[in-house]
Amino acid sequence: MTDPLLELTEEQRAIVETARAFADEQLRPNAAAWDRDAHFEPSLIPKLGELGFLGMLLPSEHDGLGLDARSYLLALEEIAVADASTAVMMSVHNSLPTQMLLHFGSAAQQARFLAPMARGELLGAFALSEPDSGSDAASLRCQARREGDHWILDGAKSWVTSGTHAGVILAMARTDTPDARKGAKGISAFIITPDLPGYSVGKKEDKMGMRASPTVQLVFDGMRVPADRLLGEEGMGFTYAMRSLEHGRLGIAAQAIGIARAAYEAACAYVVERKQFGKPIAEFQAVQFKLADMATRITAARSLLHMAAAAKDRGVDIGTQASMAKLFASETAMWVTTNAVQLFGGYGYVKEYPVERYFRDAKVTEIYEGTSEVQRVVIGRAAVSGS
Ligand code: CAA
Repeated sequence: MTDPLLELTEEQRAIVETARAFADEQLRPNAAAWDRDAHFEPSLIPKLGELGFLGMLLPSEHDGLGLDARSYLLALEEIAVADASTAVMMSVHNSLPTQMLLHFGSAAQQARFLAPMARGELLGAFALSEPDSGSDAASLRCQARREGDHWILDGAKSWVTSGTHAGVILAMARTDTPDARKGAKGISAFIITPDLPGYSVGKKEDKMGMRASPTVQLVFDGMRVPADRLLGEEGMGFTYAMRSLEHGRLGIAAQAIGIARAAYEAACAYVVERKQFGKPIAEFQAVQFKLADMATRITAARSLLHMAAAAKDRGVDIGTQASMAKLFASETAMWVTTNAVQLFGGYGYVKEYPVERYFRDAKVTEIYEGTSEVQRVVIGRAAVSGS
């Protein structure tokens, strides 16, 4: 289902076709088994790198494809239709660490990290949340203190997508001191690599959904970080993280739309096959109304997302619109997958059919990269401030 309303360019059509072919060949046949086994398939990283899908928004000087945001989001939707776990790996990598480095990194930092990230030699991750700091991100406690030409970092980071395989992690830590806390302005961003002394990967989460995407804690125990790994200016890490999350939230919206579309397409196919009361259940108006509402919500979510992405490509500040797109798309994914399970009846509740996986995968899109409540905070604050 490529939406005719989107008016794609030739290049965008080609990107969609490439993503769909990759998804059909490499992801769709494996997604159920990877989900069952909570298996992350590391060979996907170089394969996605070869396609250019790990440097979609990076300019060619960093070996990226230099695409506009809409092309990237179209590709991400196709990947998410087949396997939401691969989509979140791709979204986090393209939206958070690469964008932070591209917009706030020094020339030397960009030269060292961006091209290997685009080529799939280094997978990126983002470490903001902590065990006691989620929605209230500015309350994070991971502490950095300067010692000569190093920073020493102590603390734990939670919910790090791709953390088991990440080669570069953009991590936020406090550079203010306990006796002079500065709130959000006491947070700085650091470029972490797993070879740093004191770095270790902690507990891997056993999750409800998105099971083929490894989510871990990272432990920094007196981790020695060279001073040139500070990103941009000291004290600006929270702002950099928030700006990057604007990209991230567009990516999660595309992922949510992909999950919703997968559930909708599965439901459309099922209702013409499934017969009850002597006819395919597709002939019942109650069933058609559900499909109508699914199609309408998916199209509305995609329109909102692409409107925000097009504005971003024009250089417009889209913080509020990114939150709206993420909020609406993730709640659409939850609604559509819930109703798809209902249309499948008992078969929707068993693992023989894919809709229960879509339902489990959809839930986290309402939680990560800012809960639905946080998106409403962002949108509501803009509403009352008149911006
Ligand atoms: N762009 C630039 N600056 C921003 C900004 C943005 N989008 N949002 C906030 N800031 C700035 C503010 O302007 C402010 O600076 P000034 O004091 O100079 O004005 C500063 O940052 C602090 O901002 P707030 O006062 O708004 O901060 P707050 O404590 O009230 O928090 C919040 C606001 C929106 C709730 C924020 O904490 C937030 O987004 N929380 C959710 C965090 C989140 O999304 N976490 C996801 C982690 S990643 C993940 O999910 C895992 C994964 O790998 C997928």
